[in-house]
Amino acid sequence: MEPVIDVVNLSKAFGPKVVLSNVNLSVQEGESLAVMGGSGTGKTVLLRNIMGLLNPDTGYVSVEGKVVQKQDRAGLFEIRQKIGMCFQMAALFDSMSVEENVGFALKRHTPMTKAEITDRVDECLTMVGLKGCQRLRTSELSGGMKRRVGFARAIALKPKILLFDEPTTGLDPVMTDVIGRVILDLKHELGVTTITITHDLKSAFEIADRIALLFHGEIIACQPPAEFKVNPHPVIQQFLRGDAEGPFLSDPPPPKRSMNTVSHQVSVP
Ligand SMILES: Nc1ncnc2c1ncn2[C@@H]1O[C@H](COP(=O)(O)OP(=O)(O)OP(=O)(O)O)[C@@H](O)[C@H]1O
Ligand SMILES: [Mg+2]
Repeated sequence: MEPVIDVVNLSKAFGPKVVLSNVNLSVQEGESLAVMGGSGTGKTVLLRNIMGLLNPDTGYVSVEGKVVQKQDRAGLFEIRQKIGMCFQMAALFDSMSVEENVGFALKRHTPMTKAEITDRVDECLTMVGLKGCQRLRTSELSGGMKRRVGFARAIALKPKILLFDEPTTGLDPVMTDVIGRVILDLKHELGVTTITITHDLKSAFEIADRIALLFHGEIIACQPPAEFKVNPHPVIQQFLRGDAEGPFLSDPPPPKRSMNTVSHQVSVP
C-alpha cells in the first residue's frame, strides 16, 4: 500500500549546519507516528519540509503520491488543505475569539455560510472537549486550552493528516495526558494519519503506533513502542533513561562530504 506521507532521502542544511541528513520515513494511512529527538535536532524543520514551507537540499516528500517539491502554488495549496498543522505553542491569533480562530480557514477557504461555519466550529470544539468556549478570547485560555483550540482549528477543514508539533510541552502531567487522549480520540474518530513531535515519552508510548528517534540528523530507529523500548542502541537507552551521561548530547561528526548550501536544489523522481 502506498504510504500517505513518504519522506525520501531528505537532507537539509542551513549554511554549514547539517540539520537533516538522508532522512527516510513512511507513514501509512491511519497510522500514528511519534517523532522524538533532542532540542534543535530538526523535528520542526522536518514538519516544515512535509508542509512545503521549507525546501530540502536533496530528497523529497510525497503526500498521497504527490511530490510536494514539484507542486506549483495551486498544487501546494491542495496538499496543504489535506494537512492540519498544530504548531508548537498553538500559535493562535491573539486578537480573535476562539470561534474566530477555529472558523478562520473555513471563512477564508470554503464557500460555507455563516450558519454552517458556526455548526462546524461547535462540532470541532466538542471533539476537543471545549464545547461552549466559542466566545472566549485567546488571552482568557490556559496553555492546555490553547493547544486544544489549535487542534480544533487544525481539524476544521477535515484534513486527512494531522501534524502536531510538541502538543504537550510546558503542560502539567495531567493536562499532558488529556492532550494525549484528545489526539487518540481524533485519530479514532476521524481515522486520520498523524505525526506527533513530542519530548514526552509517556505520551509517545500512549499515542504512537511507531516511534522514530532523530539523532545527529538521522532517524536511528523507527519501530513500535514495545520494540523501541528494548532497542539496545546506546542513544535510545540513554534517551529512555533520561540520563545526562552518554552519547545523546555529543556533537555530530563533521559532514562526510561538502554540503551544497544552495537551497531549492531538489532531486525528485
Ligand atoms: N529558517 C532557518 N534558518 C536557519 N536555521 C534554522 C532555520 N530553521 C531552523 N533552523 C536551525 O535548524 C536546527 C533545527 O531546528 P528545529 O526548529 O527543527 O529544532 P527542533 O528539533 O524542532 O527543536 P525543539 O525541540 O527545540 O523545537 C536548529 O539549529 C535551528 O537553529
Ligand atoms: Mg521544534
